[in-house]
Amino acid sequence: MYVSRLDRPWLESPFPFQGFQLENWDHVAEVRDACKYVYIEEGEADTGDGRKKSIPGIAQSKPGENESRVRRRFRQQSRQQKDAANEPPSAWSLSLGLESEALPERPRIKSPLREEIRAARPLIKETQKLVRQQVLDARHGRSLDIPAARESVARITDSIMRNPDALVCLSALKKRDEYTYLHSLSVCILSVSFGRYLGLPDETLLELGFGAFLHDIGKMQIPDSVLNKPGRLDPTEMEIMRKHPEFGVEIVDGSERIPDSSRDAIYSHHERLDGSGYIVGASGSEINPLTHIVSVCDTYDAIISHRPYKFANSPLDATAELYRTRGRFFDADLVYKFIGFIGVYPVGSLVELNTREVGVVVESTSDRLRPKLLILLNSEHERLDQPYPLDLVRIRQTSSGQRLDIKRSLETGAYDLDPFELMRYVEEA
Ligand SMILES: [Fe+2]
Repeated sequence: MYVSRLDRPWLESPFPFQGFQLENWDHVAEVRDACKYVYIEEGEADTGDGRKKSIPGIAQSKPGENESRVRRRFRQQSRQQKDAANEPPSAWSLSLGLESEALPERPRIKSPLREEIRAARPLIKETQKLVRQQVLDARHGRSLDIPAARESVARITDSIMRNPDALVCLSALKKRDEYTYLHSLSVCILSVSFGRYLGLPDETLLELGFGAFLHDIGKMQIPDSVLNKPGRLDPTEMEIMRKHPEFGVEIVDGSERIPDSSRDAIYSHHERLDGSGYIVGASGSEINPLTHIVSVCDTYDAIISHRPYKFANSPLDATAELYRTRGRFFDADLVYKFIGFIGVYPVGSLVELNTREVGVVVESTSDRLRPKLLILLNSEHERLDQPYPLDLVRIRQTSSGQRLDIKRSLETGAYDLDPFELMRYVEEA
């Protein structure tokens, strides 16, 4: 069932996003720990025998379970939750030198978004050119131009250190047919920005960015018929696809030497915390923490991107999926921090207001549910000749007195909005 409201504002709750699905009794225990009561969205529930029944409100127990047993189980689960909360930082956090489980403070922005976009646009264009060259080199068995890649990653890192929003915005807005080329660039931008948020040292950020930039280079040796198949891969095709980390390492080993942690990101980015990933089924602390960051960013970007076999999902869908798989595929602490970093409505994401107007998020504010927007489409979903900025913290209602809220997060590329065009608006706004 779906929790649509809490007994307090979302911002005061420990839950990283607004509205979520209760899928098992652990989730119920988490909610019970944080709230006295919650609102369940009325709807239909599966009765388990193929029939649907309506949910009247807050469910109290499993069918047939008596009240005292439910209370006992809740108490037990709440205790386990509290014990977990008192645990020292995870091995993952410690290995990165992070001593606290608390969300970091956002680093200071050194250059305004408008200025940084001006610098980031040519940087993205040049890096795209380099990526295309690398794809050709990898396909033809030539060694990669590692110094050029290092130079690009260094420039990307510099831009992110000044203001990460410009590049994160540009990378979030790639078009339908650009995934193969631009996914690695997006994962590089996300990984370095997230690393900056975590306070990692400059040298580590460069290694992280470099590994992320090259993490999927082995895919260039996968036949197009498998790589871009517009449907589910069969077991043989899946086996071929799963070789791309090994191919990637072969490609970079035939080029100039790269840092060990960057090489590991190429080889191990599909390993998962519980050992269910590939190539070797490494688990827990066997996975390099920088590789684990690349894996989370890789998963996030794959979900928000158009793929040959699926349409893009919204950033909110992506954070919900990471949240659902926390503790199994990804370190839970890492997931909480990533959600804290990316926010509810990330910069560059598209949202629809309750007035049906559509805008792009251009800046986060102190209120994570009310960012600054640039409104692009009117309530009929027609393009505005003059997009206009809207600060939802300052403007809370329309001129007719109607309350103004974000109704939903839209998937990447909705309404065919072109990223570079959007950035021009932001630059000129
Ligand atoms: Fe991959």
